[in-house]
Amino acid sequence: GCSQEAGTGVSGPSTIQKVIDRKKLVIGTSSGYFPFEMKDKDGKFVGYDMDLGTAIANALKVEVEFKDYSDFGGLIPALQTGDIDMVISGMTIRGDRALAVSFSDPYYSSGQVVMVPKKDTSTQSWKDLDQPGKKIAVGQGTTGALLAKQLFKNAQVMDFDGFTNAALAVKQAQADALIFDEPGIRVFEVMNKDSVRGVYEVLSSENLGIALPLNDQATIQWVNSFLASYRNGLDDQASINKWFKS
Ligand code: ARG
Repeated sequence: GCSQEAGTGVSGPSTIQKVIDRKKLVIGTSSGYFPFEMKDKDGKFVGYDMDLGTAIANALKVEVEFKDYSDFGGLIPALQTGDIDMVISGMTIRGDRALAVSFSDPYYSSGQVVMVPKKDTSTQSWKDLDQPGKKIAVGQGTTGALLAKQLFKNAQVMDFDGFTNAALAVKQAQADALIFDEPGIRVFEVMNKDSVRGVYEVLSSENLGIALPLNDQATIQWVNSFLASYRNGLDDQASINKWFKS
């Protein structure tokens, strides 16, 4: 707005204060990305990010609502328009995104790796895949998509709506490879041992953070203080054991 107070960023009540006043926290996510955000048989959101979001709501003593965006790229615009209070969606902290939103401190370490169909026994590196006619699946709007478009000069990079669809394309051999966050590929590989194989050449190292309204200092401060005690605490350890240790 035009009436910014010095040092406090946006004017008016902070997002965290609005959440407390309305007794409800609205979190944007893009489900279908194991083990961070998935829907169970009853359509309930489950995963590591849901545990984190629920812990934040509990600390604020408010109810939590998860809003699903099938297009990961729709999350930052939704935060900018105030449709959601924060994004918890395995989102990588990046400078270009930080022009539009503010990030919390990191809550998980990630990075990009490759997954290929099991029948491909030869691929050792992304370089083996950079050939005309090869199809590389990525999730639209993700860091994997950005990286693949930068790396591959000969292979064709194909955008899919979400991790699940991109991973299924590899599983069903409609694509020759997937570039995505390592934790997701590790879980998908365990669940689909007979059809896919992870190639754990680390293509980037990334930190996942909670995206918050740009320059909302009170909210950023509160979320970082929360994370400082939550990270690696008992609840976080239980959640990590549940979702990442198979
Ligand atoms: N970490 C990657 C990124 O920020 C992928 C995140 C995908 N998350 C999701 N919920 N689909 O671009």
